[in-house]
Amino acid sequence: MNINMSKDFVWGAASAAYQIEGAWKEDDRQPCMWDHICHAYDYLTDNGDVACDHYHRYKDDVKLMKEMGLKGYRFSISWSRLILDKEGTVNPKGLRFYSDLIDELLKNGIEPFVTLLHFDTPMYYESEGGWINRAVIEGFVKYANIVFDFFGDRVNKWITINEPYILANMYRMTAKMSGGDPAKAAFQASHYMTVAHARVVKLFREHPKDLGVIGHAPNLSMVYPENDSQNVKENAEIADLFFNQWYLDPALKGEYPKKALDLLDEYDIKIDMTNDDLKTISNNLSDFVGVNTYSRMIIKDSFDLKTYSVDTMALTDTKRDDANAEYTAYDWEVFPQGMYDLLIYLKNNYNNPMVFITENGAAYNDENVNENEVQDDDRIKYLESYISKMQEAIQDGANVKGYFVWTLMDNFEWSKGYSIKMGLIHVDFATQQRTFKKSAKWYKSLIEKI
Ligand code: GAL
Repeated sequence: MNINMSKDFVWGAASAAYQIEGAWKEDDRQPCMWDHICHAYDYLTDNGDVACDHYHRYKDDVKLMKEMGLKGYRFSISWSRLILDKEGTVNPKGLRFYSDLIDELLKNGIEPFVTLLHFDTPMYYESEGGWINRAVIEGFVKYANIVFDFFGDRVNKWITINEPYILANMYRMTAKMSGGDPAKAAFQASHYMTVAHARVVKLFREHPKDLGVIGHAPNLSMVYPENDSQNVKENAEIADLFFNQWYLDPALKGEYPKKALDLLDEYDIKIDMTNDDLKTISNNLSDFVGVNTYSRMIIKDSFDLKTYSVDTMALTDTKRDDANAEYTAYDWEVFPQGMYDLLIYLKNNYNNPMVFITENGAAYNDENVNENEVQDDDRIKYLESYISKMQEAIQDGANVKGYFVWTLMDNFEWSKGYSIKMGLIHVDFATQQRTFKKSAKWYKSLIEKI
């Protein structure tokens, strides 16, 4: 692969607390919504109780990152490990863990990119409605303040909320199950997250320390109409409005797209959104946008705002009727051109913002798993094709400063447990043995070439 990138570009890998840490009850950690989901419902047989046992093995894991030549590592803090209750009581053991992890990374020349919330809202908020209850905003700001106070001297890349669309839509599902209004729940949750993000940005700017730069990490996918009919094109525009712009505009332009607000009115989706909220959003723009991107969306002839019933490769696990399309083991379409189109879309529509690709990667079934080798040529091919499209976009002016493979090591995957493998490092969950996959060696050599 022909690679020609700036030396200070951050090549990294990403993870999230619930997916790797384990130690779910240890050292006073409080339960989060995913402990609850995994234990209370039996649709998933796996859980994150032990996961990769990273809580105990973080030093070895950092060693592996170093060996792979990573320049950056994106991880998330477990809010309910660090803060014990709604009053904001700090857990000294949680503090120790993240402090040691950050020190270990820095000692090894790896830059920490810290996410404050990656789907794991503490149960002390979740049991009161979580993100559909305004009270969570204050709690999130209090938590962010503590994180900035303790780690702000060593970290200077911050991500507030991971994939607000996905988290908001978990409330759509809960509302559906409990006879509530699914669309209202999802939009309410997304709005409170948008306000919480802006409030944390405000706090960040006002903090006495120089904390670096901050953004959020929405999941974004380019939207393509399936054909040229007027109806399909219009539906694709609406899908783009609600999947992408609804999450980008407030953070980068300081306001919701007007057309989206009009459509909410038209569909009679009424949520709590005050003038103060809108003022907070308009005054507190992000420094960068973290982009999580995997595939694309194809819009057929229908789009219903109430149900979001779009035919989307990125969000449903259904394959299209297209013999030429390639899919990962998750049944997500492999579409590297989407990376290029998305980066150019951001450049053109958002005044060329600073971008970090905070997640990109693929699920494949690894082969020949043994001590010396885990064969995953498919993953290498996927990463190579997306990285070269990213490079092309950079050559065409996109302001991308870093790229993080999802994910560092095989881990707990939200809807599929341990059956889905997305890591650069193979994990044998019976022994916790880690082995570099062929893709990890490939990534190392790519980083070394630059
Ligand atoms: C994202 C999420 C990650 C990871 C990835 C692969 O939605 O942020 O935690 O699970 O998808 O499915």
